[in-house]
Amino acid sequence: MENPIIPKHIGFIMDGNGRWAKKRGMPRNFGHSQGASVFKKTINWCRELGVECATFYAFSTENWKRPEDEVRGIMNLLRQYIKDIREFADEDICIIILGDISAFDEDIRVELEDIMQTSKDNKGFIVGIALNYGGRAELTRAAKMLCEECLRGKISPNDVTEELVEKYLYTNKMPPLDLVIRPSGEQRLSNFLIWQAAYSEFVFMDTLWPDFTKKDLERAIAEFSGRNRRFGGV
Ligand code: IPE
Ligand code: IPE
Ligand code: MG
Repeated sequence: MENPIIPKHIGFIMDGNGRWAKKRGMPRNFGHSQGASVFKKTINWCRELGVECATFYAFSTENWKRPEDEVRGIMNLLRQYIKDIREFADEDICIIILGDISAFDEDIRVELEDIMQTSKDNKGFIVGIALNYGGRAELTRAAKMLCEECLRGKISPNDVTEELVEKYLYTNKMPPLDLVIRPSGEQRLSNFLIWQAAYSEFVFMDTLWPDFTKKDLERAIAEFSGRNRRFGGV
């Protein structure tokens, strides 16, 4: 495509790691490790293509249901990747963690909080990483914070507008979510950015996340570019 419309914000549901590993007779955590390296590459592809913000679904509020050794493996992978995430933060990238990281081990939590704090004014690109994230949990958290503001007398229930709710979401510094890409053949959101995706475009593909390439990203953007977004108008 000549001059595709580039989405400002893409959400990636990094799915299919387990199936990718299984196909190779390897443990599921091997797939997670391959998937994590694709996460790093995808950030660079997005920057090369002119995207402003990318959010990655790395661990959902429902993923705790998995076997203990798989969860432990994912946490260790996260430990390993913290160094890389910090390097991105040093390249003028703002890192935003979406989700309740208070459930994580202290060493991980402290590092992630520090990365968020030190990168918060970076302007080059925004990377969102959804960890212990669920869209329902995010909206519940927003509702709780709004109730507290009401009880403190800072706002009244009539002040609660869609714009105000958005201020209480993890995505409040991000551009609107234009496109959600889900590899692995599943066609669902699985509790990812449910508020933000209200008018997003969706591109599903059979590729498993560890096999995701820059070509796949370019194809998804070309498809997005050809869509007619009406937002309820004509
Ligand atoms: C996505 O890959 C990674 C996480 C949810 C952490 P999966 O582990 O869900 O891979 P499949 O869907 O079982 O293949
Ligand atoms: C969604 O994938 C969560 C992440 C990619 C982190 P899942 O594999 O957990 O989703 P379901 O269970 O297929 O809906
Ligand atoms: Mg899956």
